[in-house]
Amino acid sequence: MLTRSFACAIPLILTEAVSAAPLHLPSRRENFDPPASTRLEFVNAANPFNFDVVDLDGDGAIIYVANITVDGISYEVQLDTGSSDLWLNTQNTTLSSAASDTGISTTIVYGDTTVATGDIYVAAAQFGNFSIPSQAFINAPGSNATSDNDLGLIGLSTRNISEIYSSLENTSYDGNPLLYNIFSTYPNVSNYMTFLLARSNLGITEGGVFTIGEVDSGWSAVQNQTKIPVVAGLQQWIGLTDGIVVNGKNYSGHGLLSEVEGVPKDLRKKTLSLLDSGTSLGTLPPHYWDAVYGNIEGIEVYDEENGIFSVPCDTKLNVSIVFNGTEYPINPLDLTQLMTTGNFSNGTNETLCVNAFVPADMSDQGFDIILGDTFMRNVYALFNFGNWTASGDEPPFIQLLSTTNQSEAWAQFDDLNAARIQQWNQLMGQYNLTSSSSGKSSSAWARKTSRMTPIQTSQDVSAVEEAVKTYNHWVNSP
Ligand SMILES: *[C@@H]1O[C@H](CO)[C@@H](O)[C@H](O)[C@H]1NC(C)=O
Ligand SMILES: *[C@@H]1O[C@H](CO)[C@@H](O)[C@H](O)[C@H]1NC(C)=O
Ligand SMILES: *[C@@H]1O[C@H](CO)[C@@H](O)[C@H](O)[C@H]1NC(C)=O
Ligand SMILES: *[C@@H]1O[C@H](CO)[C@@H](O)[C@H](O)[C@H]1NC(C)=O
Ligand SMILES: *[C@@H]1O[C@H](CO)[C@@H](O)[C@H](O)[C@H]1NC(C)=O
Ligand SMILES: *[C@@H]1O[C@H](CO)[C@@H](O)[C@H](O)[C@H]1NC(C)=O
Ligand SMILES: *[C@@H]1O[C@H](CO)[C@@H](O)[C@H](O)[C@H]1NC(C)=O
Ligand SMILES: *[C@@H]1O[C@H](CO)[C@@H](O)[C@H](O)[C@H]1NC(C)=O
Ligand SMILES: *[C@@H]1O[C@H](CO)[C@@H](O)[C@H](O)[C@H]1NC(C)=O
Ligand SMILES: *[C@@H]1O[C@H](CO)[C@@H](O)[C@H](O)[C@H]1NC(C)=O
Ligand SMILES: *[C@@H]1O[C@H](CO)[C@@H](O)[C@H](O)[C@H]1NC(C)=O
Ligand SMILES: *[C@@H]1O[C@H](CO)[C@@H](O)[C@H](O)[C@H]1NC(C)=O
Repeated sequence: MLTRSFACAIPLILTEAVSAAPLHLPSRRENFDPPASTRLEFVNAANPFNFDVVDLDGDGAIIYVANITVDGISYEVQLDTGSSDLWLNTQNTTLSSAASDTGISTTIVYGDTTVATGDIYVAAAQFGNFSIPSQAFINAPGSNATSDNDLGLIGLSTRNISEIYSSLENTSYDGNPLLYNIFSTYPNVSNYMTFLLARSNLGITEGGVFTIGEVDSGWSAVQNQTKIPVVAGLQQWIGLTDGIVVNGKNYSGHGLLSEVEGVPKDLRKKTLSLLDSGTSLGTLPPHYWDAVYGNIEGIEVYDEENGIFSVPCDTKLNVSIVFNGTEYPINPLDLTQLMTTGNFSNGTNETLCVNAFVPADMSDQGFDIILGDTFMRNVYALFNFGNWTASGDEPPFIQLLSTTNQSEAWAQFDDLNAARIQQWNQLMGQYNLTSSSSGKSSSAWARKTSRMTPIQTSQDVSAVEEAVKTYNHWVNSP
């Protein structure tokens, strides 16, 4: 039995944001009042090459954002399935007297040391077509936890891991996360959300969708996919992965479940995977990371501390993640990333191709793998809150519909990869990089490879054990 206890290990930080401009598409429902669902269409709006990014030495991380209106003001915020709180950088805005200060302050510290801190307020909010009379948020003027001119973050995970909810627990204020409020205010809205993340960097493909309470008509087959049970007791969007397939070879085991006592035999080879839109890249424990990247000819350590390795730019990897017997292939474009680095003061620079999953042991956070945007760009993902929220009566689950045709992606890789390298160099060349922006991109990388997820308070492995027993109980019941 594992006796380690998990005390606030600083996770690698992966920052992600979803860039979405609300595009008002006709809902298929005839009755618009009250709204039955909402759909925000991501446009390729997150300019990965804005000043901030250039400052970060050719980072190019895409963030996925949407607008939320709070107290009458619109804020462009990151959408994060890895956390549960709403916070806003209100620096240049003035909250009206209709926004109330609860007088209770709280702080969210992310793994990259950025912080959102301030008093919790409650105010009216609109998100898509949903209106919430009283939404709690952290008023965090001047927060440094934004990366691309975004103004905050909406956490889309469970109430159980909400700082705000627990801080307001014994007060008369309602500390529920945004989606919980939407589902309780609009009881006819089905309590799920969906994501289709665009592979928008460098214009290779564009588009993407975020919905609440409806599925995108182009991808409705997601509702026919296997329901991947969420390990509900872990209170995050964590599902059990069978393993991964690398060049036709299966890899499994070597995760937390193989170490935790009391886990049934058929589950011991599985791994706990967090689906996190707030993580730009992803993490794999060493056993899996080695299988994916370990045999690449010409791989070199670039920045050991941050888990960055340079690989030849024609590196083409064939990897799938397996849930309940179904393979979800990852486009080889999502298995490597571009990074520009160098000492620009002498006019030289270098574009490197590097790994897009970083090696990391996340077991002290209570799971094994982070499937961030590099995975999520390959699926249409439905997150059903189930009985985590009041209107649901079955346990929470995830459904994934693959959007990547493995052989097609393989066949197109050489052309698309060459195109992205060319576009990357062009875009980077538009900036007059100087020595002030030179140096290693560690901070940029720290953001890309760190979870935009609050550091968890210590969690004992018994929670995992308990959660998995409950999970197993559910899986085996009719
Ligand atoms: C948010 O609103 C602003 C102002 O209307 C707009 O410029 C921006 O594109 C919107 N962002 C998103 C992600 O919709
Ligand atoms: C909001 O509702 C209108 C109809 O009232 C609909 O046309 C529009 O698509 C909805 N917007 C969103 C973001 O769902
Ligand atoms: C607020 O305005 C100041 C001065 O223009 C600017 O430096 C700062 O970045 C702005 N903050 C936000 C969050 O927009
Ligand atoms: C963010 O601000 C906090 C304090 O407000 C500071 O401790 C931390 O180092 C800052 N992090 C970054 C990345 O700027
Ligand atoms: C979170 O979940 C744990 C385990 O299920 C439970 O003990 C705890 O009370 C929950 N906390 C909140 C704030 O709901
Ligand atoms: C709320 O009250 C309960 C019971 O007294 C206590 O255990 C808990 O710590 C309190 N929560 C907060 C945030 O004060
Ligand atoms: C989902 O499955 C049902 C029943 O098998 C079928 O009628 C329907 O066409 C399927 N929907 C999609 C979008 O595949
Ligand atoms: C896993 O897939 C099998 C069929 O391959 C199905 O019978 C089973 O219900 C699925 N498990 C879950 C939890 O959906
Ligand atoms: C520029 O500087 C880098 C780092 O200091 C060095 O490796 C490189 O050789 C230099 N290039 C030229 C052309 O001087
Ligand atoms: C959700 O449903 C499952 C199965 O019926 C049950 O074991 C679990 O306690 C329920 N959870 C909540 C929070 O009601
Ligand atoms: C790197 O150097 C090449 C050749 O001088 C130039 O074309 C390109 O724009 C530069 N890229 C960056 C990011 O400075
Ligand atoms: C780079 O320098 C050129 C020439 O001085 C200038 O025209 C251009 O606007 C600069 N680009 C940026 C992004 O500052």
